Amino acid sequence: MTNKKTLINISKLNKIYHTDGTATNALKDIDITITQGDYVTIQGPSGGGKSTLLSIIGLLDKPTSGDYQISGVSVTKLSESQMAKVRNREIGFIFQDFNLIGDMTVSQNVELPLIYRGIAKATRQAKVIEVLKRVNMSERAKHLPNQLSGGQQQRVAVARALVGNPTLLLADEPTGNLDSVNGDSVMQLLSELNEQGVTICMVTHDSRYAHLSKRTINLFDGQVVDNTDNEQKNGTSNNKVDDREVAELMPNAITSSASSLVKNTSTVGA
Ligand SMILES: Nc1ncnc2c1ncn2[C@@H]1O[C@H](COP(=O)(O)OP(=O)(O)O)[C@@H](O)[C@H]1O
Ligand SMILES: [Mg+2]
Repeated sequence: MTNKKTLINISKLNKIYHTDGTATNALKDIDITITQGDYVTIQGPSGGGKSTLLSIIGLLDKPTSGDYQISGVSVTKLSESQMAKVRNREIGFIFQDFNLIGDMTVSQNVELPLIYRGIAKATRQAKVIEVLKRVNMSERAKHLPNQLSGGQQQRVAVARALVGNPTLLLADEPTGNLDSVNGDSVMQLLSELNEQGVTICMVTHDSRYAHLSKRTINLFDGQVVDNTDNEQKNGTSNNKVDDREVAELMPNAITSSASSLVKNTSTVGA
């Protein structure tokens, strides 16, 4: 095993939602480790807990119990304002529906996180130019979001997530609103960023994209039922067909691997 720095360490994490007297156990005893330079995809059927997990990793929500450390520091006991500070510094978020501000230009959207951080104007503008180049959107700096294709809007959202140089880039179904051409180009961009050293954790239920990541975690009913090292797997066979088959068989495939749940969760992050 290589000696990579651990960025994210989650152990025995639970999340219970209480609504109208009903308790939903959205995450159950989750153990996950993400190291520097990692590219993790989280997969699984709808309602499995993927977005809940990503929100907690992104400090948008708190777990009910368990521990969550970023770079060795426990963040579960932070106040809301402390959480916001850490989130602003450490996390870049990409959403399915882009979440760009409609009456701001591409440049202004990307600049916004730096304004929140109180960074001086000249530095902000230099960083915006640099990051727009990185996502190949320099020519569109003065455009408004509605003058761009979905794929271009998502590239801008990636730039906004990256501009503050976050420790971790999180993406929740980033291709969910895109056609396959635009989806492929956003995925290509994420792969390039990972090759340049950006650590990524992405939720997707498009199994065509899972093999691009280094590791795939499958969540079913709030539990990790599989944690696959794709680099090892790719070394032995072409797993594209396997992934598609698994997707088609998803409920059955996951239920059958649920029988080996105890064994699998004990090796998570190993
Ligand atoms: N804010 C909430 N209040 C109550 N239940 C919720 C809330 N958010 C999610 N859930 C429930 O938690 C479970 C996991 O949801 P979610 O994380 O959105 O799954 P996924 O992203 O895998 O589709 C589901 O049963 C969902 O209904
Ligand atoms: Mg979701």
